[in-house]
Amino acid sequence: MLPATTAQAAANTGGGNPHADPLPASALTTEDFKRILPRTDMRSDADADSHPRAHAFLDNGQAMPFDAVPIAKNPLASDAIAIGAKSCVACHALENVQASHSLHVQAFRAGAAGTGAAAACESCHGPGSAHAKYPTKPGLIIAFTRDAKTPIDTQAGVCLACHKGGARQDWIGSVHQQHQLGCTDCHNPMAKLSAEGVLANNSINQTCAACHQDIRNKFNRRSHMPLPEGQMSCADCHNPHGTLTADLIKTDTVNETCYACHAEERGPFLFEHAPVRENCLACHDPHGSNQQALLTLPVPMLCQQCHTMTGHPNDLLTRAGLATGPAPDERLIGRACLTCHANIHGSNNPSGSRFHK
Ligand code: HEC
Ligand code: HEC
Ligand code: HEC
Ligand code: HEC
Ligand code: HEC
Ligand code: HEC
Ligand code: HEC
Ligand code: HEC
Ligand code: HEC
Ligand code: HEC
Repeated sequence: MLPATTAQAAANTGGGNPHADPLPASALTTEDFKRILPRTDMRSDADADSHPRAHAFLDNGQAMPFDAVPIAKNPLASDAIAIGAKSCVACHALENVQASHSLHVQAFRAGAAGTGAAAACESCHGPGSAHAKYPTKPGLIIAFTRDAKTPIDTQAGVCLACHKGGARQDWIGSVHQQHQLGCTDCHNPMAKLSAEGVLANNSINQTCAACHQDIRNKFNRRSHMPLPEGQMSCADCHNPHGTLTADLIKTDTVNETCYACHAEERGPFLFEHAPVRENCLACHDPHGSNQQALLTLPVPMLCQQCHTMTGHPNDLLTRAGLATGPAPDERLIGRACLTCHANIHGSNNPSGSRFHK
C-alpha cells in the first residue's frame, strides 16, 4: 500500500546522502542491544564474546556488530547508491510499521554508527536510488520472495554477510541450499510471526511442516516424543542450515543425538546389545510410531528380524505360539521377549549377557 507521499519521497532521493535525516532513534542504545540480544550461534562450545568488534570478520558464527553494518550489494543495480531509511519509509509506511518491532530494524537504527540510521532498510535490501526512481522495475531492489527477480544466492548472501559460520558453516552444499531454499523460506525478519528466531511461521515445527507435513504428521501417532505438546522441536535433532552428516542430523551420529537427552542409554554396559550401540534406529522411529515406545515393529517380530529360533532353548518362535495364534504361548503375550530380556539396551546385571533382569 503506498501513501500519497510518493512524489515527495522520490524528490528526497536526489541527495544520495546516507546520513541524511536519521529516523528518531530507538530509546535503547547499542550497549543495550549487545546486552539483551541472543547470540547468533547454535554451537554449545561458542566462547563468551566480550569484544564483538574484534570478532567482526571472523568466521565464528557471531553476527556482525551493529556499528559495522554494511549496505548490501545488489548485482542487478550496481550503480545504485544508498538513499536512507527515511526515503523508503515515505513510500513503504505499512512495511515500516510492521517491521518496527524487529530487532534488526531497531538495532540498525540505534547503532549503525558507520552508515547512520540510513542502513535500517538498505543493510538488507541494498542501495535504493535506482528502485526509488523506477519502483515497478523488478530487480532494482533486493527482494526476498520466491517470485522476486533477485537471485536466491544474492538473497542468502545478504543474510550470510552477517550470519555466516557457526550453525551455518555447512549451508553451502546442504540439502536445503541445493534445493534452492533461501533463508526467507524459514525466516521472515519483517513480521512478528514467532516468539523468537524471526521465523516465517509461528514456531519451528510449523515452519518445517510447511514443506515436511508428512513428518509432522508422524508425530501424531500413538507413540511420539513430546513435539506436538511443544516441548521439543525439529531443531533439537536437526540443523536445518546444513550438517556434514546425512539427514541434517545435528551431531556426528544418530546415537549422539539421542544421548543428548537419553544419556542413560549411553552406558557403559558390561553386556552390550550390538544393534543399540550401532544405531538406535534399528528399532526406533524418531518421528513417531503406532507401536509402543516408538518401535518400528511390535515385539516379538522386532527381535525376530535378527534372531531366529536357532539357538533359543525352546520352541518360542513359532507362528502358532504368537499371542494371536491358535496356541498362544503365554511367554509371547504382553511384553513377549522383554518379559525375560528386560534390559534390552544393555545390561550390568550379574545375570549376564542375555539382558535378563
Ligand atoms: C529450513 C529452514 C531454515 C532455513 C532455510 C534457514 N534457517 Fe535459520 N533457523 C531455522 C530454525 C528452525 C532456527 C531456530 C533454531 C533453534 O532455535 O535452535 C534458525 C535459527 C537461525 C538463526 C539464529 C540462531 C543462530 O544460529 O544463531 C540465525 C542467525 C539464522 N537462522 C540465520 C539463517 C540464515 C542466514 C539462513 C540462510 C543462509 C537461514 N537461517 C536459513 C531454520 C532455517
Ligand atoms: C518512490 C516510492 C518508493 C521508494 C522511495 C521506495 N520504494 Fe520500494 N517499492 C515501491 C513500489 C511502488 C513497489 C511495488 C512495485 C511493484 O509491485 O511492482 C515497491 C516494491 C518494493 C519491494 C518489493 C520488490 C519486489 O520485487 O517484490 C521492496 C523489497 C522494496 N520496495 C523496498 C524498498 C526499500 C528498502 C526502499 C528504500 C531504499 C524503497 N523500497 C524505496 C515504491 C518505492
Ligand atoms: C534483516 C533484513 C531486513 C531489513 C533490515 C529490512 N527488511 Fe524488508 N524484507 C526483508 C525480507 C527477508 C523480506 C521478505 C519477507 C517475506 O518473506 O515476505 C522483506 C520484505 C520487504 C518488502 C516487500 C514486502 C512484500 O510483501 O513483498 C518491503 C516493501 C520491505 N521489506 C521494506 C523494508 C523497509 C522499508 C525496511 C526498513 C524500515 C526494511 N524492509 C528492512 C528483510 C529486511
Ligand atoms: C548487517 C548485519 C545483518 C544482516 C544483513 C542480517 N542480520 Fe540477522 N541479525 C543481525 C544481528 C546483529 C542480530 C542480533 C544479534 C545476534 O543474534 O547475534 C541478528 C539476529 C538474527 C536472528 C536471530 C533472532 C532471534 O530472535 O533469535 C535471525 C534468525 C536472523 N538474524 C536472520 C537473518 C536473516 C534471515 C537475514 C537476511 C534476510 C538477516 N538476519 C540479515 C545482523 C544481521
Ligand atoms: C520451503 C520448503 C522447506 C522447508 C520450510 C523445510 N524444508 Fe527440509 N527439505 C526441503 C527439501 C526440498 C528437501 C530435499 C528433498 C527431500 O528430501 O524431501 C528437504 C530435506 C530435508 C531433510 C532431509 C535431508 C537429507 O539429507 O535427505 C531434513 C532432515 C529436513 N529437510 C529438515 C527440515 C527441518 C528440520 C525444517 C524446519 C526447520 C525444514 N526441513 C524446512 C524443503 C523444506
Ligand atoms: C528425536 C530426534 C528427531 C526429531 C525431533 C525430528 N527428527 Fe527428523 N530425523 C531424525 C533422524 C535420526 C533421522 C534419520 C532417519 C533415518 O536415517 O532413517 C531423521 C530424518 C528426517 C528426514 C529425512 C528422512 C525421512 O524420514 O524422510 C526428514 C525430512 C526429517 N527428519 C524431518 C523432520 C522434521 C520436519 C521434524 C519436526 C517435525 C523432525 N524431523 C524431527 C531425528 C529427529
Ligand atoms: C531434545 C531431547 C530429546 C532427544 C534429542 C531425543 N529424545 Fe527421545 N524423548 C524425549 C522426551 C522428552 C521423551 C518423553 C519422555 C517421557 O515421556 O517420559 C522421549 C521419549 C522417547 C522414547 C519413549 C517413547 C514412548 O512412547 O515411551 C523413545 C523410544 C525415544 N525417546 C527415543 C529417542 C531416540 C531414538 C532418539 C534419537 C534419534 C531420541 N529419543 C532423541 C526427548 C528427546
Ligand atoms: C534392539 C532394539 C532396540 C534398539 C537398537 C534400541 N532400543 Fe530403545 N527400546 C527397545 C524396546 C524393545 C523398548 C521398549 C522397552 C519396554 O517396553 O520395556 C525400548 C524403549 C526405549 C525407551 C523408552 C524408555 C525405556 O527405556 O523403556 C527409550 C527412551 C529408548 N528405548 C531409547 C533408545 C535409544 C536412545 C537407543 C539408541 C542408543 C535405543 N533405544 C536403541 C528396543 C531398542
Ligand atoms: C538389528 C538386529 C537386532 C535386533 C532387531 C535385535 N537384536 Fe538382539 N542381538 C543382535 C546382535 C547382532 C546380537 C549380538 C550377537 C552376538 O554377540 O553373537 C544380539 C544379541 C542379543 C542377545 C544376547 C545373545 C547372546 O548370545 O548373549 C539377546 C538375549 C538378544 N539379542 C535379544 C533381543 C531381543 C529380545 C530383541 C527384541 C527386543 C532383539 N534382540 C532385537 C541383533 C539384534
Ligand atoms: C520365559 C523367558 C524368555 C522369553 C519370553 C524369551 N527368552 Fe530368550 N532366553 C531366555 C533364557 C533363559 C535364555 C538363556 C538360555 C541359555 O543361557 O542357554 C535366552 C536366550 C536367548 C538368546 C541367546 C540365544 C543363544 O544363542 O544362546 C536370544 C538371542 C534370545 N533369548 C532371544 C529371545 C527372543 C527374540 C525372544 C522373543 C521372541 C525371547 N528370547 C523370549 C529366556 C526367554
